[in-house]
Amino acid sequence: MSETEVAPPGVDPTIPSPARLYDYYLGGTHNFRVDRDMADKLQAATHGDLKDAVLANRGFHVRAAAWMARHGIRQFLDIGSGLPTQNNTHQTVQAVDPATRVVYVDNDPMVGAYANMLLAGDGTTALVIADLRDPDALLASPRLREILDLGRPVGVMMTAVLHFVADDAGPWDLVSRYMAAVAPGSYLALSHGTADKMDPSAIRTGEDLYARSTSNVYFRSREQVERFFAGLELQPPRQGTRPAVSYAGLWGAEDPSAADTDGSRAIYCGLGRRP
Ligand SMILES: C[S@@+](CC[C@H](N)C(=O)[O-])C[C@H]1O[C@@H](n2cnc3c(N)ncnc32)[C@H](O)[C@@H]1O
Repeated sequence: MSETEVAPPGVDPTIPSPARLYDYYLGGTHNFRVDRDMADKLQAATHGDLKDAVLANRGFHVRAAAWMARHGIRQFLDIGSGLPTQNNTHQTVQAVDPATRVVYVDNDPMVGAYANMLLAGDGTTALVIADLRDPDALLASPRLREILDLGRPVGVMMTAVLHFVADDAGPWDLVSRYMAAVAPGSYLALSHGTADKMDPSAIRTGEDLYARSTSNVYFRSREQVERFFAGLELQPPRQGTRPAVSYAGLWGAEDPSAADTDGSRAIYCGLGRRP
């Protein structure tokens, strides 16, 4: 996006936002100078691991969506979906079955401004601008109800979004409420930033910089990420492994030794089935 371009209505181009930062990390153009400046500082503070982490996270998102589609899931709720990118969720899952339905949810007005680029345009997809911290309002959305039948299994995706939700907003309870609202046989694909393996000074820089964006970031431990899967049947990250939360690069990796990079260890992920 050029400097002279006017921000869409409701978008403040002077404060970085997680959706625009992520777009820039992924090589997109729906971002402003403030986003690129902050992202470049973070990239320098992490010695390049940030970009690696983002690519590993997006790789997990796409592989988990494809896995659920191959396992018969025909409707998806992608919460904290982000801006349009390559391999949007509906493109990934509709490659398995073109009739698959996808509802995207995000609270950033920039995502709303680019909704047309995100959607399939054939009635199988919709975008709801809503805050995941209000599950009753989100789940009651008429657009969501038009597209999804919550009485049948849903692939709920909450990738790289819950680290923008503070403990006092009850992220574990929120996840439980979404999973209680969907039918048995539904899945949860979740990824989350962690400081467990990262340089503490890079983590502090990340927390300080995000505090000046539209959302703070809250890194969580492996044990805290595992708690998101309470009551669900965690799936093995790869064939021949035990069910577990894993690093993002490793989940579904064809070549685990190549995928297990330093940056990918900044993101935990897992896939759980609602029994
Ligand atoms: C880092 S991006 C992740 C995009 C995508 N899920 C992925 O993993 O590739 C996080 C997204 O979550 C959105 N987000 C953050 N807090 C949110 C909230 N409380 N409700 C809805 N969306 C939120 C941001 O606007 C951003 O688009």
